[in-house]
Formats: sequence, structure tokens, C-alpha cells
Amino acid sequence: MSALTLTNVTYKYKNAINNAVSDISCTFEEGNVYAIVGPSGSGKSTLLSLLAGLDLPTEGEVIFDGDSLVNLNLDRYRRESISMIFQAFHLFPLMTVIENVCFPMELCGVNPKDARPRAAELLEGVGITKEQMQRFPSKLSGGERQRVAIARSLASNARIILGDEPTGNLDGANTQNIIDILCSLAHEKGYCVIIVTHDMEVAEAADVALRMRDGMLRIV
Ligand SMILES: Nc1ncnc2c1ncn2[C@@H]1O[C@H](COP(=O)(O)OP(=O)(O)OP(=O)(O)O)[C@@H](O)[C@H]1O
Ligand SMILES: [Mg+2]
Repeated sequence: MSALTLTNVTYKYKNAINNAVSDISCTFEEGNVYAIVGPSGSGKSTLLSLLAGLDLPTEGEVIFDGDSLVNLNLDRYRRESISMIFQAFHLFPLMTVIENVCFPMELCGVNPKDARPRAAELLEGVGITKEQMQRFPSKLSGGERQRVAIARSLASNARIILGDEPTGNLDGANTQNIIDILCSLAHEKGYCVIIVTHDMEVAEAADVALRMRDGMLRIV
């Protein structure tokens, strides 16, 4: 099933001369991992922000489940349908690892009593031990922190995962680990995973590799 469809999507920042995203039409399906590569400034992060409903296209439409994002409640779309993973982790430094995963669930109205076991299950799923869950994020390695960020992004049950350089700063083994997690989410659980990456290892592991250049998108 198609998760997101873009029809002739163009985005121009206010006062900019060129389009950051230029006339992109494509479909992102559930069950696939998509990697987007391309030079700095080619529009990759802008495209992700359009998919996430953080910005609306200047022209064209982003369609989720048959509805254009302009017709959806965007707060709800972002909260319920989209998970974002960033390179900079964005973990809360003064909360333990497990609290970091519980917190967004509680914000979404999950009872704290139910949030904790669910958080532990998600963390175990990405290889974080019970002992590591009680630590502060600063007491984990970069790769472990990134896995916590993935577990936290799964807490919402959103079916679309958007990542901007989710393996940036990680070594080969940790990168492979994140690739394995993202591929199994797509292939076994049917998530639609769309990641921007500079890492060719990640691009090669994806089901579909796309290249951006000057705001335009091509299948590699
Ligand atoms: N808030 C903004 N206002 C104006 N122009 C912007 C803004 N954000 C990005 N741009 C411009 O839009 C173009 C695309 O930027 P974008 O951040 O999407 O590129 P990118 O492919 O993600 O680059 P990188 O690999 O460096 O992260 C660039 O020319 C950039 O300067
Ligand atoms: Mg970027």
C-alpha cells in the first residue's frame, strides 16, 4: 500500500531565488526502505520536512492515505503518522533512557503504568539492556544513543519513519546495526522508512535508492 505520494511538489523558501524542491512526483510504499542521497543543499531535508507536514508545498500535493496534507489536521498527522529520527539524537539529558522513551508516550495520553513496560519492550528490541535503560543518555555510546532514539520514535506506532542522517557519526558496526533495525521494521512490520544519508552502505542496503540534485529526485 502506498504510504505517501507526491504529485508535482515544488517548494520555494521565502525570498529564495531557486526552488529547494522542484516538481517532484513519486510514491513511497509501505514495506520498503528508501534512501535519499545527494549533495549538500540539494533539498533533501526540505523534502523530509514536506513529507513530515512541517512545511506545505508551494505547488503540488503531498498525499497520505488518499488525502492531501492540506486537508488533514497536521498536528495530528505529525503526532500519529510520522516518526522522525535525527542525527543529533535529541534525547533529554536529565531523564534516564527509559524515561526518554516513556515521556512522549505519556504526552500522547498513554497511562504511565502501561508506558513503562512498552518502553522496555521497544528498547529491548533495539538491543538496549535493562541496566542501560536506567542510565542517563550521556552514559551510553553514540550508537546506543541512536538506538534509543529509534526506540523512542517507535513509541508512537506511526507507520512512516523519516530519518535525516540517522547513522551520521556512527562507525561501521553501529551503522550496520541501525540498517538492520530499519530494514526489519520495513520488511517484517510493514513500516515505510525514508532516510536521507551520505553513507553509501546505507544507500545500498535500501530497497530503493533515490538521488537528489538541484531540488529534483531521480531513482538511482
Ligand atoms: N529556512 C530556509 N530559508 C531559506 N533557504 C533555505 C532554508 N533552509 C534551506 N534553505 C535552502 O534550500 C536549499 C536546500 O536545503 P536543504 O537543507 O533541503 O538541503 P540538504 O540537501 O538537506 O543539504 P545537507 O546535505 O547540507 O543537509 C539550500 O539551497 C538551502 O540553502
Ligand atoms: Mg539536510
